[in-house]
Amino acid sequence: MRKVFFGIMAVTGVMVAFFNESCHETAPVTIADDSAKMIKRGEYLVLAIGCDDCHSPKKMGSHGPEIVPELRFSGYPASRPLAVWDTNTAKSWALMSQDLTACVGPWGVSFAGNITSDATGIGNWTEQQFIKCLREGKWKGLDSARPLLPPMPWQNLAKLTDEDLGSIYRYLRTTRPVQNTVPAWMPPGTFMK
Ligand code: HEC
Repeated sequence: MRKVFFGIMAVTGVMVAFFNESCHETAPVTIADDSAKMIKRGEYLVLAIGCDDCHSPKKMGSHGPEIVPELRFSGYPASRPLAVWDTNTAKSWALMSQDLTACVGPWGVSFAGNITSDATGIGNWTEQQFIKCLREGKWKGLDSARPLLPPMPWQNLAKLTDEDLGSIYRYLRTTRPVQNTVPAWMPPGTFMK
């Protein structure tokens, strides 16, 4: 049994070595050690700060909303019809969809953005754009863009260092790409009677 086990280990070792070798030839590893560390830190920050709370679509489980893994970080799903809400209540309350990806309040209806590595997410953003977005509260990180709306807590995230924001950026760019063009902000008056 031991022999079989070591035999398997040896074969696996050779295969791994071969795979690594062939990978080196065709796709050299480009991530420097530092980047790998930053990605890890980015993951830690994203989990601790709780970007999933608003940015990941969820389904209702017996203990509350549960993240849909294949849609993680993709924001409010464009294909989902907006649930009806009581417009009178919304004048004095902020209401969130059950999975927290959409929010209605005096600022209108805001939809959590797609922050996956897809092109409809942050896949084509530069690091500078990402930092500007969270530091200055600019939609898409563009100078001429509108300010980011509640409940995106950018004023808190703005206090993170460039290195931490860069780590979050690097981590998010390793996430599974999910194609989802989040609906545009609905300003007040476009939906309230
Ligand atoms: C309490 C809810 C909430 C949390 C928590 C949250 N966000 Fe957001 N986020 C939003 C909403 C809503 C928007 C859309 C705001 C708008 O359209 O102006 C948004 C927008 C963004 C955008 C801009 C998207 C775009 O297309 O311009 C980025 C980037 C972003 N969030 C990253 C993050 C990251 C990273 C975290 C965690 C560190 C995080 N958010 C945590 C609700 C949240």
